This record gives sequence, structure tokens and C-alpha cells, in this order.
Amino acid sequence: MRLDKLLANSGFGSRTEVKSLLKAGAVTVNDTRQKEAKYQVNATQDKVEVHGELVVYEEFTYLMMNKPQGVVSATEDNWDETVIDLLDERDQLKKLFPVGRLDKDTEGLLLISNNGVLAHNLLSPKKHVDKTYFAKIDGVVTEADIAIFKEGVTISDNYTCKPAELVILATENGISTVEITIQEGKFHQVKRMFEAVDKQVTYLKRLRMGTLELDAGLALGEYRPLTEKELASLIAKSE
Ligand code: URA
Repeated sequence: MRLDKLLANSGFGSRTEVKSLLKAGAVTVNDTRQKEAKYQVNATQDKVEVHGELVVYEEFTYLMMNKPQGVVSATEDNWDETVIDLLDERDQLKKLFPVGRLDKDTEGLLLISNNGVLAHNLLSPKKHVDKTYFAKIDGVVTEADIAIFKEGVTISDNYTCKPAELVILATENGISTVEITIQEGKFHQVKRMFEAVDKQVTYLKRLRMGTLELDAGLALGEYRPLTEKELASLIAKSE
């Protein structure tokens, strides 16, 4: 692959910025200064360094974020901060995007990647990737609600959801806390499911998506790369 492409894909800037780096003599390949953008490198075998820093090339990037409230699951937005704005400068240059959406006021597990094929497969309704949420509900959730959700609740636009598993964790002072697992990812789905049984979601946090589980060590707004094990099982699920 071309040296400028490898550097741009590794977060060293746009192709133009990378060209300036090369021109300035900041880049070495196998300990020899290399100034030519179209110089061909073997991404796995050649030792490429920028200002002496080793470039570890990865074809794709996979990050797990604990999304905070108040940021939108988009790459760009005219009004709000996006989840991509929360990434460090190097990661922001990797053309990453959120795999699926969480509402602005929803927290929790968000996968961020630049692998379009994996994203497409994971989001495909055919794959039935389960998503589990913790929710606080304004209202007392009952056994009848569990049965309705299990059967398939019809939400506002006459769409009947696939069976969902609802577990009541606690109920106190008219407020229930629950865990809910859904198979789809329709717009505002969990909120609309509870509205259909006359209750309101006041707090929502995604805990799991398929085999991927939110790392409890990540504070809100923090992120980390997936481990090899997490990635392998995610890829297996998406195939
Ligand atoms: N369901 C919702 O209502 N909101 C989300 O962010 C995710 C699922």
C-alpha cells in the first residue's frame, strides 16, 4: 500500500497533511528517511516511524465507548457535540462512525468503528443482534407488561416489535427499574415500547449488544479499543 495511505489511515492526518510530514523528513521506513508519498510499503512487515514513533497499522479500528448523555450518535451535527468529538485527535482522523444509534439522552455501550461491512451486518435485522438496556420507568412495571413484551408489543406507528425479554429488578414509590432485551433497533424503540403500556422511560443505559458487554471500568465519555476476544466474537456474530 502507498505510504501516504498507511499514514492517513493510521491517524496521522489527511493525505495532504501526511504529504507535509513526508516532505519535512519526519517519516522513516526500515530506518531510512522516505519522502515519497506513493512509496509502497508492506503494512505488516515494514517498520514505519513518524518522528521516531512506530506506526502500528490496523486496517480497521473498533472502539467501545460509554456514551454520556447530551452527545449525539453521529459523525457531525450543527448543534450538539457528537460521540466522534469525544475521541482523541488521532482517532478523529480515522473516519470512524457509531455503529447504530443511541438517543441523545441514552447512556452506555456504543461501538464505534470504520468497518462498514461489519456495521452493516451487525445492524441488519436478519442478524437479530440482541441489545440489553437498564431502564428506570416512571410507573409500576407488572407481570402483564412482561407478557405483552414477550408476545410483541405494538408501538405507536402500528409496528409490532419482535418478542422482548423484560426483567423487573425493583419497584419503589411507583418507580420500577428493569432490564430489557430487544432484538431490533427501531427509532426510540424502548421508550415507545413503554409508552405503549402507558409508562415512561426516565433513564436508559445500554449494557450489552450481542456478545459485547459494556466495560464497567469505563467512565461516561471514556472509550477503549475492543480486545481481540471481543472483536473475534463480534465478527463471528456478524458473519
Ligand atoms: N431505545 C430507545 O428508546 N432509545 C435508545 O437510545 C435506544 C433504544
